Amino acid sequence: MTGQSADPSSPFVHTLPLTLTGRGEPLRASLALAAAPLDWLDANAQEFLHPDEAALVTDRLHARRRHGLLVGRFAAKQALSRLHPEIDPRAFAVRPGVLEQPVVFGEGVRNLGISLSHAGPVALAVAFPEGCPMGIDVERVRLDAVPLLVSQSPQAEQRLAARLDGPEPERQMRLWCLKEALSKALRCGLTVPLEVLAVANVEPDPAGWWAGFANFAQYRGLSVVAGDLAAALVLPKTVTLAPSDGAAWQAALAVVARAWRE
Ligand SMILES: CC(C)(COP(=O)(O)OP(=O)(O)OC[C@H]1O[C@@H](n2cnc3c(N)ncnc32)[C@H](O)[C@@H]1OP(=O)(O)O)[C@@H](O)C(=O)NCCC(=O)NCCS
Repeated sequence: MTGQSADPSSPFVHTLPLTLTGRGEPLRASLALAAAPLDWLDANAQEFLHPDEAALVTDRLHARRRHGLLVGRFAAKQALSRLHPEIDPRAFAVRPGVLEQPVVFGEGVRNLGISLSHAGPVALAVAFPEGCPMGIDVERVRLDAVPLLVSQSPQAEQRLAARLDGPEPERQMRLWCLKEALSKALRCGLTVPLEVLAVANVEPDPAGWWAGFANFAQYRGLSVVAGDLAAALVLPKTVTLAPSDGAAWQAALAVVARAWRE
């Protein structure tokens, strides 16, 4: 099930274990990038979907939603299998909780969280211990999204954006991804005023940008960009991530961005 290909007619999968340390203890987490055409996902869904998940995917779903749901579950299973290779991916069920947040069910699975995001045929997922809440987001960088992103962004954040490097569509989308990833770590999604999720500061780093949040000092986010894909991972501030993990994530995102477009 885990082919690795930059050819858009077959699936792309890349998983990386995250080297996290919190309170002096190693934490086991993993990140997965996946991309696959809808035809392939439909034909292979029985290889990775739990029956509860299969019930979510009906013919009545719009193709775009069906694609997102399938590629998101595909990525989630990759991330979960990296942590639990002994468990059949079909034995995990990633079901929507009462806040629509993804919740992992399965025998032998305890205190395991998942966050996922999809953009067309591409999905990212991060599996983590529930004690270390995390959130992830991926978006296409689009010139036509700039007016909306700017209008939804607090003034202080716009002043910050003006000081950052990179083309404007990329800067704006990276800030957006950071907010959306924070909203997933918090489980509120974008149901709160966006200024609540505002990015307060950004430190460029070889792996990407490390960002802090105006109202959630307990969290920080890593923003990466490759081609026309922007992504962000938010985790507790007290948890350290090995610098090589950020670089590996960006390299894998670059492969996906080169080969997979909407
Ligand atoms: C969470 C949210 C920000 C996702 O934004 P998006 O750009 O549409 O989609 P992404 O691909 O980045 O992420 C989608 C995933 O976020 C996850 N998600 C949804 N709600 C979530 C929440 N409250 N907390 C954490 N994760 C959530 C889901 O796993 C979803 O994928 P799935 O439905 O295929 O399982 C957005 O859907 C939202 O604000 N939801 C809030 C809940 C809500 O109000 N739902 C009713 C909408 S009318």
